[in-house]
Amino acid sequence: MEVIWSNTDFPYMCLKDVKRTLFFKKAIKKIVKKGDIVVDVGAGSGIMSFFAAKAGAKKVYSVEIDHLLAESIQKSIEANNLEEIVSVVEGDVLKANLPKNADVVICELIDTGLMDEMQVPAINMLKKRGVISKKTKLIPSSYQTFFQLVYVDNNYYGFEIQSPKHEWPFYKNTESGWIKTQIQAVSQPVEVSSINFEEGLIECEVDKTIEYVLEKRKVNAIKISGLITLAPGIILGPTNALNGDKIIPIELIENCKKIKIKINYKMGTGLGSLLKYKVL
Ligand SMILES: C[S@@+](CC[C@H](N)C(=O)[O-])C[C@H]1O[C@@H](n2cnc3c(N)ncnc32)[C@H](O)[C@@H]1O
Repeated sequence: MEVIWSNTDFPYMCLKDVKRTLFFKKAIKKIVKKGDIVVDVGAGSGIMSFFAAKAGAKKVYSVEIDHLLAESIQKSIEANNLEEIVSVVEGDVLKANLPKNADVVICELIDTGLMDEMQVPAINMLKKRGVISKKTKLIPSSYQTFFQLVYVDNNYYGFEIQSPKHEWPFYKNTESGWIKTQIQAVSQPVEVSSINFEEGLIECEVDKTIEYVLEKRKVNAIKISGLITLAPGIILGPTNALNGDKIIPIELIENCKKIKIKINYKMGTGLGSLLKYKVL
């Protein structure tokens, strides 16, 4: 089963995330050329489409699966007098009717590690259908995933809570009433996947055995982090609404100097697929 991640409110959080949004604006200005045909996948608020129009695109197709968001993008297009440039394509990007050989595809269906959202299946499908061809530039152009062993305090309100944790930088502000995640690095981060979105069909499965040297005595979680290259020289780590570190509890391991972990997951099928790790 494919997972389609959609949440009507979340694109507004993305819009308010100034660092994320201005980095994309910079990348779009760098990559989109006058007269380009652009596809904006998962257009949300429509902001990336509007940046592309401003950068000189002749035509922008804003693909959005959520009906309310698709309607809202249409209203924003009219409010900004962009009807001749930007068109909404409401529906699932896996099936949407789109032009072949787009000059630029903007696709921000990114979550940390590319596990939950549809970034990789969406790009693969657009390649199979010829929307993305060899000449198409992608924003982002690549993604690297890192796994690090950590020790995390799972105690919340007097209970041991084993659920996955998501560290958005915004929630680090304990003065606003958020709990601080108590986390200690136990190993160095190791790259488990590096994907160039512009090169051929992407292998969805990551299957890797990593040997970690432990710098502390106890491990009970894996921290997943990622680096997004939007365009040459424009690289983003975690921001308030994008790519925050994920911490996945694992069994407690004590008093080891080195451990090997076999990791196997499939991008775009949910974080649950990572539960297939094995300590060797
Ligand atoms: C993380 S938001 C990004 C919004 C916008 N691109 C931005 O960067 O501000 C992802 C958007 O993709 C849409 N989406 C998710 N899966 C989709 C799919 N299969 N087809 C089309 N849109 C999708 C969601 O409804 C949501 O609006």
